[in-house]
Amino acid sequence: MAVPFVQDWDLVQTLGEGAYGEVRLLVNRQTEEAVAVKVIDTSQAKECAENVKKEICVHKMLNHPNIVRFFGQRKEGPTVYLFLEYCTGGELFDRIEPDVGMPEKDAHRFFQQLIAAVEYLHSVGITHRDIKPENILLDDKDNLKLTDFGLATMFRFKGRERLLSRLCGTLPYVAPELLSQTEYKAQPADIWACGIVLTAMLAGELPWDQPTENCQEYSDWFQKKTYLPPWKKIQPMPLSLLTKLLLASPDARITITDIKKDRWFAQGVKQPPGPLGSGGNKLLQSDLGLKSRANSDDRMQFSSSQPDLAAGGWEAMLLISQTDGLVSFSQPTKPEHMLLGSQLLGTPGASQSPWQRLVRRMTRFFTAVDADASLSALKDVCDGLALGFKLTCAKQVTVSTLDKRNNKLIFKVHLLEMNQKVLLDFRLSKGDGLEFKRLFVKIKQKLGVIVITQKILLPVT
Ligand code: ADE
Repeated sequence: MAVPFVQDWDLVQTLGEGAYGEVRLLVNRQTEEAVAVKVIDTSQAKECAENVKKEICVHKMLNHPNIVRFFGQRKEGPTVYLFLEYCTGGELFDRIEPDVGMPEKDAHRFFQQLIAAVEYLHSVGITHRDIKPENILLDDKDNLKLTDFGLATMFRFKGRERLLSRLCGTLPYVAPELLSQTEYKAQPADIWACGIVLTAMLAGELPWDQPTENCQEYSDWFQKKTYLPPWKKIQPMPLSLLTKLLLASPDARITITDIKKDRWFAQGVKQPPGPLGSGGNKLLQSDLGLKSRANSDDRMQFSSSQPDLAAGGWEAMLLISQTDGLVSFSQPTKPEHMLLGSQLLGTPGASQSPWQRLVRRMTRFFTAVDADASLSALKDVCDGLALGFKLTCAKQVTVSTLDKRNNKLIFKVHLLEMNQKVLLDFRLSKGDGLEFKRLFVKIKQKLGVIVITQKILLPVT
């Protein structure tokens, strides 16, 4: 059966980029339902097609509230499209303020949901093997959703467990036994990565480049020097859990059964006094977004009918619709109009209102000058910071540098003209996301007065 995909679904924008290709947002013209589509070009490498088959095979069998739902796939020549639940809240990464982290209460809740996802995965014999904040998304209610099963594999089948040998994942998140042993157990390695994610959420930095003893930061941790950062920024209770998660020996490392008995994990955290500690605080307090504006006037436009969005102090919010520019807010969504066809497993469960499709990204801002002036100001700032600056298209720049750990950092800046303003949208192409955000903040500061700092809600045509 033909899938009425092309005529009914509008490609609205790119949500993310990776080594595999892109993830794009599709919106149904009739129902306004939104889905994410991961576009994979399998022509680059022979093993790529096999990897994608495996990713599909794993992802389609999963069904858990903390795992991104897989709706179906489509193949057109060498291109494979994976239709996935669209997570309006974006990446967990965007909730982490560099060098600060996030409120402990939020980290606690996210960590509980991450462990629920991993517990489920392990219960069905699957290991993710690339757990990191970039692969963790949030829905409209800030529920965590683990995604990207490109490296996932089966480690248990019919009750029989196997050891793994493939060296894969992302070095700062990889468990030490992967680098020191030829074979490793699947579950402790995922748990280690969860420990690194928890550290990033609580301290806003990754503890080390890689867990080898020639890495100073790792050997400091090994020697229990918790008076050093990032550990000194972390409260005793979660730090106690981290000492169990980040134990070098995979056999001594805490299991999920015991994580659930941990005092901090099980009991939650006490509320710090003050208005920002009163829960639901999604604001980051650095210059990444706005300064805390929970009570400022601009939250009023979201109040009463849209409490979820009212809580977020986001700088640039785009109301997206390629077809008509302005979305009808009253139009009810009709889930029965969702994708039809043999290749699709189901339909996205919860319908999404246009409000819920607001794209929330923190690495963007508007400038008050035109595109040429914005570009030249950006070039001056990049030159001043000794960053590589290359105009890759008329309205796109690729910036490249090395981060403080000498790792490659490459990102793109897209310029979008709208209503006499220019949106500068920064996207990471390669490297550490926290380093990317640190540099974003620096560039934004150096651009100075041309940056518009107020929150804007704009229809995009
Ligand atoms: N980026 C990558 N995958 C995504 C998804 N499913 N929803 C939103 N943003 C994404």
